Amino acid sequence: MKGIQLKSAAQIAKLREANLVVAEVLDVLAAAAAPGVSTWELDQLAVKQLKHLKAESAFLGYRGYPAVLCASLNNAIVHGIPRKDLVLKDGDILSLDFGAFKDGWCGDSARTLEMCPISPQAHALVEATRESLDKAIARCGIGQRLGDVSWAVQSHVEARGFSVVRQFAGHGIGRHMHEPPQVPNYGEAGKGPRLMVGMVIAVEPMVNQGSPDVVIEDDGWTALTKDGSLSAHFEHSVAITENGPMVLSRA
Ligand code: MF3
Ligand code: CO
Repeated sequence: MKGIQLKSAAQIAKLREANLVVAEVLDVLAAAAAPGVSTWELDQLAVKQLKHLKAESAFLGYRGYPAVLCASLNNAIVHGIPRKDLVLKDGDILSLDFGAFKDGWCGDSARTLEMCPISPQAHALVEATRESLDKAIARCGIGQRLGDVSWAVQSHVEARGFSVVRQFAGHGIGRHMHEPPQVPNYGEAGKGPRLMVGMVIAVEPMVNQGSPDVVIEDDGWTALTKDGSLSAHFEHSVAITENGPMVLSRA
C-alpha cells in the first residue's frame, strides 16, 4: 500500500511514549494560556517542558520553521508563529499544535483553547471541530477506508454550516512527522486505502467559520482564513489496532 509503513506493537508503544510527551506539554500550555499571556511565552514554556521531558521538538527547523509550537489565534488556521506581540484576550480562540520526538519516534497533536467568555458562534465552531475529530477517530478501525475517516470530518462540519480547509491535511506518522498517507479532511466514504493493523495516522481537522480559502501571512508560515473568519483545529495521532482505534496523544 504505496509507502504506508505498518508499525509493530512495540513501535506503537514507542509512538505512544512520544505522544504522551506531547499531551503532557499541551496540558501545561493549556493551563498557562490566559488573557495577558503572549504566544511567544507559550513557546518558551514548551521549550522548557521539552527539556524537562528529555524530548526534542518535531517542529523547530522543520522546513525552516522557527519555533517549537504553532500558536494560531482566531482567524489563523494553522502554523501560527508565536509572537511577543500576540497577547491573548477574553473571547479569543487559540489553536496550539505541538510535535515532539522521543527515542526517535514522533508525536503530534493539537487542540483549540477558548479564552472564556467567548461568543456562542466561536464556541460552536470549536465544538464542531472537536466532535469531527472524534467522529473521524471512530472510523479508524480495521475494514474502514481512509475516505471514511475524511468523510466523517467533512460531513459533521458541513452539517453545522462550517467548512473544512482543503489546503492542509493530516498524515501518517512514525519515525518521521509526515509519512504517507495524506489524510484529507474531505473525501468520499468507501474510497481510498483500507485501514490495516499497524497504520498510525495524525488526523487533524482544520475548520473555518466562513469560506475554506487560505492566505499565508508575510511571515511565510501563518495560514489565515481568506475572509477573516474564525478557524479551529484539533489533532490526534491514532493507531489502528486489533482492538480498535488507539488514540496515542490522549493522556
Ligand atoms: N501538526 C502540524 C503538521 O502536522 C505541524 C507541523 S508545522 C511545522 O503538519 F511547524 F512543523 F512546520
Ligand atoms: Co500534524
